[in-house]
Amino acid sequence: MGEEKRIKTAVLISGGGTNLQALIDAQKSGVIRHAEICAVISNKADAYGLVRAENAGIPHFVAEKEKAEDTDTADDRERKQHEFEERIEEIIESTGAKIIVLAGFLAILSENFTSKYPERIINIHPSLIPSFCGKGYYGLKVHEAALSYGVKVTGATVHFVNEVPDGGRIILQKAVYIKDGDTPEILQKRVMEEAEWELLPRALELVSEKMTKEI
Ligand code: GAR
Repeated sequence: MGEEKRIKTAVLISGGGTNLQALIDAQKSGVIRHAEICAVISNKADAYGLVRAENAGIPHFVAEKEKAEDTDTADDRERKQHEFEERIEEIIESTGAKIIVLAGFLAILSENFTSKYPERIINIHPSLIPSFCGKGYYGLKVHEAALSYGVKVTGATVHFVNEVPDGGRIILQKAVYIKDGDTPEILQKRVMEEAEWELLPRALELVSEKMTKEI
């Protein structure tokens, strides 16, 4: 197993990092055989996922975007976004990562960034795309929207990232049934347990295995 080629992978997070943990566990258990997490990058210095990276012995970094001010001009906003993405790129280059996994990464990446890594960035989204996705749909908001619409089935989607928010090619999806009495929190937990933690490692394995055959 150790002899196989592994594609270096950076995992970007913003919070608890349970999806990161699923990736770490899958690498240990052998579900992931063609990728190796070489860096964890958080846009929040207090993200618990950084502790998970530390515990697993994975190099971890913080890349924070300079705070937005009411007085910001369009130029200021562009500069802040540019500097934020430049910092992420530096870490990616310095660690040699070839795949970028967005695992609960809740910051927006511009087309300037995503176009540098075509079909190399994958994202997990907690609904069945094209439902409840795109700008403004993240974290609990996705489950609130699904419950308030009244759908009976939701789920998770792993997809490639392009310039359209949640719009890149779908890699894997899994459905999860909604139950009577679900709250956004209960549903979020069930979607994670039944879909996300299984789907994201499988998707990374699929993408990285394919890449080992291309190089
Ligand atoms: C996960 O449910 C993930 O699908 C979602 O944020 C949560 C992060 O949890 N991502 C999005 O909503 C992206 N649009 P985690 O930090 O415990 O992995």
